[in-house]
Amino acid sequence: MANIVIVGAQWGDEGKGKIIDLLSDKTDYVVRYQGGNNAGHTVCIGDEKFVLHLIPSGILRRGRKCVIGNGVALDPRALLEEITYLKRHKISVDGRLFISGSCHIIFPYHKIFDTVREGHSQRQRIGTTKRGIGPCYADKVNRCGIRVADLLDAKIFRKKLRSTLREMNSILSEIYHTKPVPFNSLYKEYCGYGRKIRKFVCDSSKVLNDAISNKKAILFEGAQGTLLDIDHGTYPFVTSSNSTAGGACCGTGVGPSRIDKVIGILKAYTTRVGEGPFPTEFPKGRMNTQLRSRGKEFGATTGRPRRVGWFDAIIARHSVVVNGIDEVVVTKLDVLDEEPKIKICTAYRYKGKLIKGFPMNMEIFAKATPVYETHPGWLSNTNKCRKVKDLPLNARRYLKRIEKLIGARIGFVSIGSKRNETIVVK
Ligand code: IMP
Repeated sequence: MANIVIVGAQWGDEGKGKIIDLLSDKTDYVVRYQGGNNAGHTVCIGDEKFVLHLIPSGILRRGRKCVIGNGVALDPRALLEEITYLKRHKISVDGRLFISGSCHIIFPYHKIFDTVREGHSQRQRIGTTKRGIGPCYADKVNRCGIRVADLLDAKIFRKKLRSTLREMNSILSEIYHTKPVPFNSLYKEYCGYGRKIRKFVCDSSKVLNDAISNKKAILFEGAQGTLLDIDHGTYPFVTSSNSTAGGACCGTGVGPSRIDKVIGILKAYTTRVGEGPFPTEFPKGRMNTQLRSRGKEFGATTGRPRRVGWFDAIIARHSVVVNGIDEVVVTKLDVLDEEPKIKICTAYRYKGKLIKGFPMNMEIFAKATPVYETHPGWLSNTNKCRKVKDLPLNARRYLKRIEKLIGARIGFVSIGSKRNETIVVK
């Protein structure tokens, strides 16, 4: 099988976990390349539900190797908790998990910054997961981050932590008036993590490039979604990494010429968690609560209720372009089964003007109103459909219309959370 990048083509939570699990049946390696434990990938195997935040979903498939690439912000405490969670389910990571020595590490002060900045009156609230992701990436770019490889050398780690912590503590106490983080206990705690994760540490670029040279297939597991990408998303209401397909190269050390295909995951409607513009969001009321409960739209990481709205073809087309998506998977089609009328946003209107592309100016995006076309619903259960021809005519028409509007073909349709609740289109 080819080397494939899987990306979320909306604001995350598109159901990537299930699709990655399905495709990992035919791959050798599954790789996370950005984000951290802000992600929540849910996979249902039989009647069991697994939620993974940091370790690639491929770990649930026997024999698959999993790599945490250099682009990931790694919270070692969260990693060790996840390893214990997997062990409880009789899944071993030994010999199967590889972690790049270049991953930047999340420290408690990153989480404190994430919390106090969100509550600060002078700053724009983003609605982050408060996992310390943004502050960790900020240190990386500011060249004062501490990486996994540093943790493995007590002397280097001590020196780097001492100087970074001094600066962080003075910002925390002088600007945010919070208690400083003590050096000794933090140093000891993280040295302990270093000892536990040492056996997984590798050069992810070498592991993956060697694997590709040996004709192994790699699945790059994007976290979050395109509209949360730091460059191509709805800035500043975004996460702090490149969740788009290009991030797979920088976040692993695998060159673009070695990637064969990009698959985008799109929910049959749209959701978003956290703050930020969302033109097709339902107003508070029946649609909102009904689709949220039918689609179980609650954050897998924070439990927050997700905001829900109609399918937005403008953002989906933007995703197809910026990721170079070859094929899309439409998930959760069954959630729309009971809707008599289904809308698709095909353009925006702003100050009387029709906008057909994704606006660069987020002020316009925030104030634009959606222009909809309305489709008749199918009002029947799609959950048992296993082939395209089993789907009701109106559902097939809805999917065809999405394909046309976004400019990418649909490869799979998901009509339930279980592995077999999937239709292969092509
Ligand atoms: P952060 O990634 O915790 O900094 O949060 C930044 C924004 O990204 C917030 O709006 C979060 O709700 C959103 N976000 C982060 N991770 C996910 C995810 O896995 N799914 C959906 N939204 C996410």
